[in-house]
Amino acid sequence: MNKTFYIKTYGCQMNLLDSQLVAGILAEEGYELTDDPSQAGVIMVNTCAVREHAEQKALGRIRELLGHKKEDPAVKFVVIGCMAQRLGEELFKLSPGVDIVAGPDSYRKLPRLLGRLDHQPICSLASNKKEDYSKVVAQRKRGISAFVSVMRGCNNFCSFCIVPLVRGRERSRPPEEIAGEVRGIVAQGFKEVTLLGQNVNSYRWEGTDFPSLLWRLNEIEGLERIRFTTSHPKDLSPKLLEAIGGADKVCEHLHLPLQSGSNRILQRMNRGYTVEGYLRLVEEARQAIPDLALTTDIITGFPGEEEEDFQQTVEVMGEVGFDASFIFKYSPRPGTKASKFMDDVPPQVKAARLTTLIELQRRITSARNRKLVGTTQEVLVEKKGKLPGQLFGRTRTNKPVILPAKEGLMGKVLRLRIVRAKGWILFGKL
Ligand code: 5AD
Ligand code: SF4
Repeated sequence: MNKTFYIKTYGCQMNLLDSQLVAGILAEEGYELTDDPSQAGVIMVNTCAVREHAEQKALGRIRELLGHKKEDPAVKFVVIGCMAQRLGEELFKLSPGVDIVAGPDSYRKLPRLLGRLDHQPICSLASNKKEDYSKVVAQRKRGISAFVSVMRGCNNFCSFCIVPLVRGRERSRPPEEIAGEVRGIVAQGFKEVTLLGQNVNSYRWEGTDFPSLLWRLNEIEGLERIRFTTSHPKDLSPKLLEAIGGADKVCEHLHLPLQSGSNRILQRMNRGYTVEGYLRLVEEARQAIPDLALTTDIITGFPGEEEEDFQQTVEVMGEVGFDASFIFKYSPRPGTKASKFMDDVPPQVKAARLTTLIELQRRITSARNRKLVGTTQEVLVEKKGKLPGQLFGRTRTNKPVILPAKEGLMGKVLRLRIVRAKGWILFGKL
């Protein structure tokens, strides 16, 4: 049997980490990762279900990759992740040739499922409220920055969101395990960790909440930086702001999804905060952490979004002045509460609102970044730049910086002078 495997990953950082976990699980059983699907005995696609577009992209790629199976019928074809969980057996019909469909709680079973496969397709979707992939050694490519999961699942049930339906309820990992994993990563040469959870603010393990976890990880020697995502505004605590402001390794950046600037829409989204509450939070955060960078997620064309609601979003975005925003057109997701609302904003209106907000954010980002020209920023060098002779790093506030390449800078924290800003990208000099 050909025990090489290929994984293509779609979706969020959590999914990227899941692919590394799956690679770790398979490596334990003697499988070997390849980046060439035509050499692989096992082809996997790790899928996202957050918007219909994400699913269409994954389905297209699955169809394409199934071509390898036509050439070599011994290839085993596996679809995992959020869309796998959502569609289940339907995937066998949509994409004939798929052998295994496995949801986010079933990854430990993959070696067994691969071993068992005769000619019957297998679907493994059971949710396991306890599964946190503890003790699985994620297979990470060597580098400077690594993802570490602190919790999985979500209990928030925002009315538009498929995540609670496909990833199940919240479960936090024990702090000593997280700390152990981070120490291990640092020993491998990583300098930065990004702690992942659908809502890190509701992390809790016995007496440890998220801010105390941050303080604990801050003690780890050799670790330079700690980042985390995502923070839900409804339960962001003053203690967290204190940790960001006070713990030297914790970076001054909050990803704080706003979703909409209209209270009426926020309520229909079941977000649990008001615009006024959000703005108060931003003010408190900026007071506690003067250099804080703020990024957000926005949805345009949520059911019932009138021009007036949209204008309120435009206003709030102008008022806050986010450093960056991720803006999406609303996409109804089967099984969510919002999917029962009439999807009544016409596609061209959704698209026009999207364009307006992207353009607005582009101007805000440029203006904010131009202000950094002439300042000195602490930059961690992460990798080579796209062009030869360049290196790529990030400021503590997570802004990308290009700098001239020089021997021995990789993985170093440098003090750089920002000489130019081009959109979202900064250019620095030693
Ligand atoms: N349609 C559009 N965008 C969505 N998001 C989540 N669900 C949907 C949906 N059904 C966006 C939210 C979330 C981000 C990860 O994706 O803005 O914060
Ligand atoms: Fe990540 Fe959500 Fe997409 Fe799943 S559905 S991969 S949790 S963004």
